[in-house]
Amino acid sequence: MQHIYRGRVHAADVRRNLPWLYRLYRGRFLDLAQSVSDEPVMAARDDRYGIVLNVQRGTEMRFECHIDSNPLTGLLFCTDHVAGAGGELVFARDPGATDVEGIERDRSVIRPHAGHLIFFDGSRHPHYARPLVSASDVRIVAVMNFYTESCPESTRPDGLNLHLFGQG
Ligand SMILES: [Fe+2]
Repeated sequence: MQHIYRGRVHAADVRRNLPWLYRLYRGRFLDLAQSVSDEPVMAARDDRYGIVLNVQRGTEMRFECHIDSNPLTGLLFCTDHVAGAGGELVFARDPGATDVEGIERDRSVIRPHAGHLIFFDGSRHPHYARPLVSASDVRIVAVMNFYTESCPESTRPDGLNLHLFGQG
């Protein structure tokens, strides 16, 4: 398998170094997440994955095609990317898309603007971030996991924590 490089500021470091962002995740951003959902929304209780920063630097890194295990995701874009610079977030309209080609065949594209906050159900729509075009460019997004009453945090697969943190 081809190795895909990606950068991450882990949740513990966000909490330690960006306490205001951690507080927003559990405060104002949670309120906004609640406003787009018909059912009660909760922030993650487990601080290992509640809010992280995804960092894409240069042309080698990208965020692979996936669906989210949580029912509601918040993304705060922290960097701007002009048209043609790459870094777009791309969603498949076809829930059965399994790779980049499948997503790109019929998709919605969101170009990052610093300060824009979006919420989406990433468990139904496969998505990925396009690579950056310039070797000197950096793309940063804050990624927030939210849970709902019908899809609570307890449904998060153990294997995912094992994969990410080396323990369930
Ligand atoms: Fe995702």
